[in-house]
Amino acid sequence: MPIFHISHFLNLNFKIKMGISNKVYGVVMMIVYCGLFVVSYSLFETGETRLTLDYYAKTCPNVLQIVRKEMECAVLSEPRNAALVVRLHFHDCFVQGCDGSVLLDDTITLQGEKKASNNIHSLKGFRIIDRIKNSIESECPGIVSCADILTIAARDAVILVGGPYWDVPLGRKDSTSASYELANTNLPSANEGLLSIISKFLYQGLSVTDMVALSGAHTIGMARCENFRQRIYGDFDATSDPNNPISRSYIEKLRSICPLVGKTGENNITAMDNMTPELFDSSYFQMLMRGEGVLNSDQELYSSLLGIETKALVKKYAADPIAFFQQFSDSMVKLGNITNSDSFVNGEVRKNCRFINT
Ligand code: HEM
Repeated sequence: MPIFHISHFLNLNFKIKMGISNKVYGVVMMIVYCGLFVVSYSLFETGETRLTLDYYAKTCPNVLQIVRKEMECAVLSEPRNAALVVRLHFHDCFVQGCDGSVLLDDTITLQGEKKASNNIHSLKGFRIIDRIKNSIESECPGIVSCADILTIAARDAVILVGGPYWDVPLGRKDSTSASYELANTNLPSANEGLLSIISKFLYQGLSVTDMVALSGAHTIGMARCENFRQRIYGDFDATSDPNNPISRSYIEKLRSICPLVGKTGENNITAMDNMTPELFDSSYFQMLMRGEGVLNSDQELYSSLLGIETKALVKKYAADPIAFFQQFSDSMVKLGNITNSDSFVNGEVRKNCRFINT
């Protein structure tokens, strides 16, 4: 269970920093672990039991083919579309569970999640999901939830850029609500510390191993200057391998995309994996070992003094792409199984993913 993993991070460094005795430390940690265990276990339990692989076998037998065909068109026309959809699924599942809440537009009566701090100007791919939904509605109206469509589309996105396959459990319902507040608090951000990010994953029932493997999704896609400025004018040099320092030209390139002076170019973008930006592979982890992570949060997995276990996992996945693919698939299933228990009772199958049914 996740609680056992975090112990490595929290032991010595914290004790030394806080100057507390072993006994007090033990009691405090026990309370933290128990709290996280109870929350994550209950979220987890409600999720896994109700989803099945053949959920639409009778009601919409072609659903998987329709999603795959649409995703093929989307990724063929623009490979980054794969990254957009994978991130969209992640941001859906971390807020109220995977219930399509992220897809809802703002209306007079509903405040959506699209304008939350980690989504605004950044989260994209909504039109791809609209297109898939339209195709499915014309074949099996009112049957397939937007939350399920997004989960299948994320799996296909990964395959289409060279990543692993996994079976997708289905049967989610769409929420009739969204949470701007939870989107602001639950989603991790680029300049957040490692322990804080780990605790956000534990809260969702995901372990440190899940967190590191899922971060491997940054092997595709782009980041905006706003999210990597602090890193490239901060500890970029300090985290690089002294025997193999980062090339000046690479840092200069990033700095020209994202200038410090004048704070312009907030939306200028760079690939998070500078080796193979459009390919789902383990080069992201190799980059971290060279100190070339674009986001602070990425580099911390390898370079943080608190990241003994995360560093070992980065090394493992850098050296063994098969182990990375296997863990990534397992962790994506766990991510997709974070369900919204309220939606199972009060949820619906939206006709249009952007609006709740009237
Ligand atoms: C571990 C904590 C994580 C943090 C702090 C984080 C943060 C970020 C940030 C700041 C960006 C750039 C957004 C922008 O500048 O517009 C990004 C992009 C991305 N993230 Fe994460 N992320 C995390 C985990 C994940 C996970 C678990 C997944 C999926 C399983 C994921 C998938 C992606 C993808 C595919 C992109 C590229 C999107 C694009 O091209 O627009 N991330 N992430």
